Amino acid sequence: MVYCSTMSLEQEINKRRTFGIISHPDAGKTTLTEKLLLFGGAIHVAGAIKAKKAAKHTTSDFMEIEKQRGISVATSVMGFEYRDKKISILDTPGHKDFSEDTYRTLTAVDSAIMVIDSVKGVEAQTHKLMEVCRMRNTPIMTFMNKLDREGQDPFDLIDEIEQKLQILVCPMSWPIGMGKRFKGVYSIYDKKLVLFKAHGKQDQANIVEITDLNDAKCDELLGDQADQLREDIAMVTGIYPKFNSEDYRSGLTTPLFFGSGLNNFGVKELLNCFLDNAPTPVARDTSKGIVEPNTPNFSGFIFKIHANMDPKHRDRIAFLRVCSGTFERNKKYIHVKTGKTLKFSSPTAFMAQDKEIIDKAYPGDIIGLHDTGNLKIGDTLTDGGKFQYKGIPSFSPEIFKTCVNLDPLKTKQLNKGLQQLCEEGVAQLFNRINDTQKIIGVVGQLQFEVIQYRLEFEYGAKCRFDTLNYSKACWLEADEIVIKEFARTRQNQMGSDTHGNTIFLSETQWGLDREIKENPDILFHFSSELQTTK
Ligand code: G4P
Repeated sequence: MVYCSTMSLEQEINKRRTFGIISHPDAGKTTLTEKLLLFGGAIHVAGAIKAKKAAKHTTSDFMEIEKQRGISVATSVMGFEYRDKKISILDTPGHKDFSEDTYRTLTAVDSAIMVIDSVKGVEAQTHKLMEVCRMRNTPIMTFMNKLDREGQDPFDLIDEIEQKLQILVCPMSWPIGMGKRFKGVYSIYDKKLVLFKAHGKQDQANIVEITDLNDAKCDELLGDQADQLREDIAMVTGIYPKFNSEDYRSGLTTPLFFGSGLNNFGVKELLNCFLDNAPTPVARDTSKGIVEPNTPNFSGFIFKIHANMDPKHRDRIAFLRVCSGTFERNKKYIHVKTGKTLKFSSPTAFMAQDKEIIDKAYPGDIIGLHDTGNLKIGDTLTDGGKFQYKGIPSFSPEIFKTCVNLDPLKTKQLNKGLQQLCEEGVAQLFNRINDTQKIIGVVGQLQFEVIQYRLEFEYGAKCRFDTLNYSKACWLEADEIVIKEFARTRQNQMGSDTHGNTIFLSETQWGLDREIKENPDILFHFSSELQTTK
């Protein structure tokens, strides 16, 4: 893409909106993404959707792994332009075993859109994702999907969001019936009736201005459902807070839209409200304080790495979020952790599914950097500043295994593979005190299958995993002497992560709770960075 060089950095920043779509699998994230891309005139979309469907229907886990990887690379960042704004959508794998990837991706966004299935309501994964958004006060807009089906009562759905997700809801539109009796929505602030047509284009003919709901036109259009709408709207305006952009941006409230992604209904209203209110690239916290996006000096961080997408070429792409200043192709930048100078000759932008080489990138942009092994998740790049971006944590794994080499001639390959896959964030490696065997910790079982499969097909190494009896690893923070004393009687449960941080491996939640209670001088952290003592 050719960026207009006459635009100031400030203008470039104001033009950008970078967000993630979050949902429990099957709520309709992919369908909504497709519709949003269609508004921007993005191409090749159907391919991505088809691939995802194919993945869903495979029976083999290995196939699923490969497809998941393929899909998440193809669709992990999608950019498009709409209403003169440059919008980047960051997609995340829906499967819960890949939830760490999702967490990390959410560190690179400025806001999120949450999709909820109106038939199922708030589901487990929605809950988890919401917690992550809350850690960073990420503003969230909500799309209540599948109104063309017989869903739950809208008031009950709002209750559920408020109670389970602990956020105030501002309905922006209100559904008129559901399922077979779904007539459309009433747009509360625009005072318009938007009438539903299955799979139809939502053109002007379907939008009727209604300044007063008591207007007879309402009865004409909605029949016996008009009175219900009047009643509902009187309740809605009485109960729920009025929309206020500030409250949304501070994460206090979530504007709620009702619609149907599949029928492209209610999507445009969501997108317009999003563009009017969603934050432009925000300031971010670093080891040396807050960095504003309009600081002229370039800085950014790596939040995702994809290795070996084409095993023949051993390619590796690091995803960088530009946080401040202007990134330029072929310019020398500092890799803060190692002090090395790096130059990128072919940085890519992701427009829909097309990758293209760019000369410049601005705050909010996500770019792909070809890497030969220097970059790791969480690393900061700057044009001279010696600071690190915060908030790209590792979370406590819950399943632990040792890796047994099945082919002694391939030890080197196995170690290299394990190291690289962990750098990519597929799993975490730990060492136990007095033990040379490496421990692999993951959040979900499927990750072990990914590791085993990829070790064999990408590195030619065969291995077996032996289960260990741990259920949680936590990072310890205390005086060195206190930790030494604690470790003395718990040698089997002490270890370190790849950065040398001390960890404690607990077998049961009960045992862990007891340790926390009995050792008030030690802080037990459940993520490597976001200091969350449970
Ligand atoms: P995900 O990415 O969140 O996992 O969900 P995805 O968009 O793949 O949607 C999950 C299923 O829900 C799909 O059906 C999709 O067609 C359907 N869906 C999405 N939005 C709506 C909607 O507004 N109304 C209705 N009725 N269905 C919706 P599927 O059976 O898995 O696939 P397909 O064979 O129907 O395409």
